[in-house]
Amino acid sequence: MITMELFPLSLLLTLSLSTIIFLLFRTTAAARRKLRSPPGSTGLPLIGETFQLISAYKTENPEPFIDARVAKYGTVFTTHVFGERTVFSADAETNRFILQNEGRLFESSYPGSIANLVGKHSLLLMRGSLHRRMHSLTMSFANFTIIKDHLLLDIDRLVRLNLDSWTGRILLMEEAKKITFELTLKQLLSIDPCEWTENLRKEYMLVIEGFFCIPLPFFSPTYRRAIQARKRVTEALHLVVRERREKRERGVKRNDMLAALFDSDCDDVTFCDDEIVDFLVSLLVAGYDTTSTTMTLAVKFLTDTPSALAQLTEEHEEIRARKGTSVALEWDDYKSMPFTQCVVNETLRLSNIISGVFRRAMTDVKIKDYTIPEGSKVFASLRAVHLGQDSFQDARVFDPWRWQKTLDPANFMPFGGGPRRCPGHELARVALSVFLHHLITRFCWKPAEEDKLVFFPTTRTQKRYPIIVQHRNVVE
Ligand code: HEM
Repeated sequence: MITMELFPLSLLLTLSLSTIIFLLFRTTAAARRKLRSPPGSTGLPLIGETFQLISAYKTENPEPFIDARVAKYGTVFTTHVFGERTVFSADAETNRFILQNEGRLFESSYPGSIANLVGKHSLLLMRGSLHRRMHSLTMSFANFTIIKDHLLLDIDRLVRLNLDSWTGRILLMEEAKKITFELTLKQLLSIDPCEWTENLRKEYMLVIEGFFCIPLPFFSPTYRRAIQARKRVTEALHLVVRERREKRERGVKRNDMLAALFDSDCDDVTFCDDEIVDFLVSLLVAGYDTTSTTMTLAVKFLTDTPSALAQLTEEHEEIRARKGTSVALEWDDYKSMPFTQCVVNETLRLSNIISGVFRRAMTDVKIKDYTIPEGSKVFASLRAVHLGQDSFQDARVFDPWRWQKTLDPANFMPFGGGPRRCPGHELARVALSVFLHHLITRFCWKPAEEDKLVFFPTTRTQKRYPIIVQHRNVVE
């Protein structure tokens, strides 16, 4: 009897208890989910998954490193590379969010080796209002009007001058580097190619080699060499800056980036020579390897895809025929190269010179169902989106014709986005187009030997793409 009477009460108690436990569990699970980092694997202690990443990127097909993790964990996952736990995004929307929230939720974060070599006053390391101001100053020096009215002329002249000396077997990558270095020096300092520019370039190449080393001079001879080369580069640039300041005081005016930096002295900020030199160093770094590698890879992709090369040749021969004896390209010529722009886009998409950008979370950031904890390193992989089958059909095939159809621009960010979007994007496009024009209309070429693409430490071909060139009028 007692048992019978107690039964409903015990049932009620049990039910209430289960409800409380269920609710408690749900709240804790929700809270846990709210603070859950993206899933993934951090690999071995200290080393993490760095070796897997490097060995994948040393092959022609590094995609499996990302593909396997995306398949297992989704497009935002955690890994551990280059000594740090890193949240990796292979998702277009997340990448855009990260880049657009620069300075609010995320800030740029370069590896120590790069930061030491570009210098503390470099644009790449600047933050806040100074960064905004200097970024827009850089943009103003590579915008449409400046390119149209000044830079196109220099680009065209310097490309032709370099091509004049081409004969027989050349290393295309080396030649392209020489061209882009000369272009950048002209744009920054109004200096024409000479022995001084070539010596500076050689020092520069040593500096860049140091970017991908452990930043400890004692352990790494390459890094030690890079530090010494940086010293020589900055000394040479200091001399130029000092000389130009003196000339400016005597009323000599120039129309280049250095003059724009001097002129900003007139506003509220004054730059000392150290700051100006670091700024110049970072611009040389940013424009040099990127544009020259894209030039080389465009030629490689075209060589491997004869139908694309044939269509491109037709486009440029039409321009040549229209121009008659006038050799230099003008703005209208550049604007009548629609298929060239398809080739440039496709090269940028497929080769991804800057495979992604590193950022650091400034606070806990909620992304999708996860929280990226404050202080976490984040890698927004542009490459993963460009080569993702969801973003582009047959994503791993060179197909310039795809750009003749309507594509979602959100999936294509070779120049990054947000406040740090590449200020040299238009300049790079013009340099690439002018280079392709003169190459195609003046030369035939064939690969001198087998060469293949690798992606570590930078995107390049293993043998610097040796080709044999022949003047077209000789062939005809
Ligand atoms: C094919 C050629 C190029 C590619 C693919 C490229 C790509 C990029 C990307 C992805 C970024 C964003 C980095 C980030 O968000 O942290 C960037 C930044 C930058 N680029 Fe380029 N770039 C190219 C050519 C150039 C050229 C020719 C210049 C010379 C003016 C240049 C100057 C810069 C500078 C100064 C930055 C840093 C901007 C900042 O931090 O505010 N780039 N570039």
